Amino acid sequence: MEILIRSTPAEVAVEAANIFAHYANAGSTLGLATGSTPVAMYKELIARYERGEVSFADSRAFLLDEYIGLERTHEQSYYSTIRREFTSHVDFNDDLVKSPAGDADDPAAAAATYDKAIRDAGGVDIQLLGIGANGHVGFNEPSSSLTSRTHVTTLHPQTVNDNSRFFDTVDEVPRFAVTQGLGTINEARRLLLLATGSNKANAVRDMVEGPLSAHCPASILQLHQHATVIVDESAASQLEDREYYIFADQHRPHRPLFS
Ligand code: GLP
Repeated sequence: MEILIRSTPAEVAVEAANIFAHYANAGSTLGLATGSTPVAMYKELIARYERGEVSFADSRAFLLDEYIGLERTHEQSYYSTIRREFTSHVDFNDDLVKSPAGDADDPAAAAATYDKAIRDAGGVDIQLLGIGANGHVGFNEPSSSLTSRTHVTTLHPQTVNDNSRFFDTVDEVPRFAVTQGLGTINEARRLLLLATGSNKANAVRDMVEGPLSAHCPASILQLHQHATVIVDESAASQLEDREYYIFADQHRPHRPLFS
């Protein structure tokens, strides 16, 4: 794992945008994520697009997950969210921004179809990830199979509570979702996980330094050959080997960050 510790969330966003822009300009298949954490990176990419520094014209995208039970036009569906926060502001071909059909009559069948669509597209070149305070990635909650494919899942009460800030009341938060499975996510050729803020510090510690465990789904990154984790000082505050990660970041032996 490459662990990059940056002073502020703004610096995390710039570092992540540097990596993501490289893939976009190469016409890659991008794995996009929602949540608050990537928003600053999306803003940075939109600014670079407006300056002519990055283009998404040759890229396609697959979203990580989607609520079940919201129409895709609902403002909190991830289908709408990613367009509002990112893809509609750059030169993405909207038809190539895909997300699981959380409004399908048969969400389990829609999940299987989505998993196949990712494979048929040749897989994801770089998958952006956030992390839940309970260690979830996508909506893979604690106890998720480490080899799962895209599937229907039940949201953890903590996730429902965390995400209630986007809804008028907690009762409006969907209880189920379709999420790329941990096995699906781990097939992306590169993983880029961002975390900021002290409420993510324990989850980041468990992901990086804890055992590989379904109890911390993000620990699946330990099995990936090219996972990059970019965190701010607050999210890094519980890392026992923090000094080593900083040293290794400053003394990178070979692989440039962008490839
Ligand atoms: C959400 C999403 C995840 C996201 C996570 C953290 O429920 N399903 O993909 O990474 O929770 O969100 P945030 O970045 O807002 O803390």
